[in-house]
Amino acid sequence: MFFTAMRLKKATLGLLAFALLTSSNIASAERSGEKIFYSYCVACHISGVAGAPKLGSKADWQPHINKSMATLLKNSITGIKAMPPRGMCSDCTDQELENTIQFMIDSTK
Ligand code: HEC
Repeated sequence: MFFTAMRLKKATLGLLAFALLTSSNIASAERSGEKIFYSYCVACHISGVAGAPKLGSKADWQPHINKSMATLLKNSITGIKAMPPRGMCSDCTDQELENTIQFMIDSTK
C-alpha cells in the first residue's frame, strides 16, 4: 500500500515535470525580434526600399515611434502603403511582430 502510494506520487511528479518542460519549450519557440528582422524585414528595412524606415536611423524612425506600439503593430499586421501584411512573415505571431518592431525601435537609440 505504502509503495503504491509512493509510485503514484512519483508518477504525478513525473507528469508535472513533463508538463513544465513542454510548456517552457513552447515559450522558447517564440523567435526573437532580431532573428525575425534578419530573416524577413531585412529585405526592405536595411536599405529603405520604397521608403521603409531604415534600421538604426533615428530620423527615419521618429515619425513612426511617435505612433503607439498598438498602431505600429496593427499596421504591420495589415500592411501599410508599400509594406505587405506582416512584412511578408506570414507565420509570425503578433507577439513576434511586436518583438521585431521593438528591436527596430531599440536600434535607433
Ligand atoms: C517589402 C518591403 C518591406 C518588408 C519586407 C517589411 N517592411 Fe516594414 N515597411 C515597409 C515600408 C515601405 C514602410 C513605410 C510605410 C509608410 O510609408 O508608412 C514600412 C514601415 C514599417 C513600420 C512602421 C509602420 C507605421 O505605422 O508607421 C513598421 C513597424 C514595420 N514596417 C515593421 C516591419 C516588420 C516587423 C517587418 C518584418 C516582419 C517588415 N516591416 C518588413 C516595407 C517593408
